[in-house]
Amino acid sequence: MSWIGQSYYKIASTRAGRGVLRAGLAGLRACGLLREFRLPLEALALDHPLAAELQRLWSRIHWAGTDGMMPPEQLLAVVRLAYECPVEGDTVELGAWVGLTTVHLAAACQARGRGDVFAVDTFAATKERGTTYASAAKYGGSTLARFHETVRASGLERRVHAHVGLTTEMADRHRDRPIRFLFIDADHSYDGVKADFETWSPHVAPGGLIVFHDYAIADVRRFVDEEVRGQSWLEPLPGRVDPNVFAITKSSEPARRARTPSRPALAAAAIVR
Ligand SMILES: C[S@@+](CC[C@H](N)C(=O)[O-])C[C@H]1O[C@@H](n2cnc3c(N)ncnc32)[C@H](O)[C@@H]1O
Repeated sequence: MSWIGQSYYKIASTRAGRGVLRAGLAGLRACGLLREFRLPLEALALDHPLAAELQRLWSRIHWAGTDGMMPPEQLLAVVRLAYECPVEGDTVELGAWVGLTTVHLAAACQARGRGDVFAVDTFAATKERGTTYASAAKYGGSTLARFHETVRASGLERRVHAHVGLTTEMADRHRDRPIRFLFIDADHSYDGVKADFETWSPHVAPGGLIVFHDYAIADVRRFVDEEVRGQSWLEPLPGRVDPNVFAITKSSEPARRARTPSRPALAAAAIVR
């Protein structure tokens, strides 16, 4: 982690420090100096529903001032996929940390008018299979309060729900709720990603997307390349999303037909791409 990151975490570990950071960021934003940190929105027309919803979100919460883990271009790539996913259902995020990705996924649901976001996390530093999950020590052992703070600040509470626990133990709650977008970003060990994929992918609706973050991590890449690519019930997306994001569609004939864009859908796609 850079010295900037370390200093940020040190300051953010106290209530007074967080107040100072918030005031500082608000000041920088007011002077226009934080604009360069904004997510790269050039590819979206500003009156596009997703762009409008993201602008609204960023007027309430700024990604540079929230302790998210995804670089902006990857976050935007994932959010665009979530928006474009053509089927009905919910979004499930495995590994939510303090909720920055969660509220961006919720913004995509809001812009698209489709489903809710279920964020699954222990929200605590946990050890399993020898992997240490992201340390929550700087939040007093649990990121849950910070997660709720992020969600409240976003104004998207209605669309966001937290499942507190191990990812492998929460899937039964979705027995009756099809998932349109499954985002896997929890335990990045080979066995962890495999367990998450095998536990949750049966709940994904035909035509829904399964998206892995941190494809650049060796274990994630090895699992995807060895066990996900080439499965007959999964279809790779045409074109590359981002080198660190791997996305695949759960295929079905009816869903394939539904994905064949109609004229208005083609026009919308031209705006987004
Ligand atoms: C990389 S962080 C998620 C980052 C978040 N998506 C973002 O970009 O800001 C991984 C999260 O997964 C959680 N986690 C890891 N393994 C888990 C498991 N087996 N069950 C539940 N949560 C887990 C950790 O607590 C941590 O918050």
